[in-house]
Amino acid sequence: MFVQPIPTLRRDGDALVVLDQTELPWRVVERRLTTLDEVAAAIAAMRVRGAPLLGCAAAFGVALALTSNAADDATLDHALATLRATRPTAVNLAWALERMAARLRPLPFAARAEAAWVEAEAIRIDDAQRCEAIGAHGLALLRALPPRAGRPLRAMTHCNAGWLATSGAGTALAPIYAAHTAGVDIEVVVSETRPRQQGLLTAWELAAAGVPHLLVADNAAGLLLARGEVDAVVVGADRIAANGDVANKVGTYLKALAARAAGVPFYVAAPVSTFDAATPDGAAIPIEERAADEVLAIAGLDGDGHPARLRLAPMTTRVANPAFDVTPAALVSAFITERGIVEPARVVEFLRSLAP
Ligand code: MRU
Repeated sequence: MFVQPIPTLRRDGDALVVLDQTELPWRVVERRLTTLDEVAAAIAAMRVRGAPLLGCAAAFGVALALTSNAADDATLDHALATLRATRPTAVNLAWALERMAARLRPLPFAARAEAAWVEAEAIRIDDAQRCEAIGAHGLALLRALPPRAGRPLRAMTHCNAGWLATSGAGTALAPIYAAHTAGVDIEVVVSETRPRQQGLLTAWELAAAGVPHLLVADNAAGLLLARGEVDAVVVGADRIAANGDVANKVGTYLKALAARAAGVPFYVAAPVSTFDAATPDGAAIPIEERAADEVLAIAGLDGDGHPARLRLAPMTTRVANPAFDVTPAALVSAFITERGIVEPARVVEFLRSLAP
């Protein structure tokens, strides 16, 4: 079982301690969150990020709300609405909140707070187990790729869908960690992922785990794919619609197009909680629009090695900053889920098989 080097989040008494991802890859800083509003703010500011981890954090946010207030329906509803409003695209967040509501609403008020902590912890452990199974199924796919002469198996990923984005090994990176552990000679091509540079988080994770990797500018991906230097693209997802269309970090779609043009398989690794039977297709997925500042400035270290933001363009420049894009199901070679490999044309069938 994959053990996170630092827990992405953990309960500490009546507090939630999160690894602050806005400080990475430069500094390891944990933040202690004690109220609903602090959890909501941490999610909105992306101190905690990645679809499955958003669900885990939100579940603990509900527990905090019910601990420091009367655990009546008004408190519960306020907590659910506050957390749901933080980030609209990743459906895991809404999924976790629905699971919390279903568990807590039937209970007497006095029993709710403790039950909320227990359910949040169950969601966290469940997420880690799902990642583990995704790793095992994805490893089988990676092993089945045609052999390469004279170089490692090369997998390209985008954004960060590693352990930082979950409570376990990650989604897209779970098969990569499994392959590395199994002794497969594997190298990961990591795209930088402007504007928030989550690729740097991926590079940081992989470096710490000793997994060989190459950091590339987002725009280099097409050339590497076209030259036959990449054997598979593996990404995560924030929401998979009923028809198999995938919302993931902006830039994913371009990689899927380039992979298809080059005949390279494009895999999407995601737990069942990322599939949304209620959203018919990609056009119906809400795409989060984030602040202009994310495009107008860039985070890094200054000359003295201190974290700093550098302005790239005048603050008056008009900006569009969609945080996600939609990859049509037709460009997806397969979904890697904890229940096994799912072909895009069989998503509806797959969702039906999961219905209680
Ligand atoms: O905006 P972020 O950093 O939360 O977006 C994360 C992604 O898009 C990931 O690729 C996705 O959540 C899959 S995470 C396992």
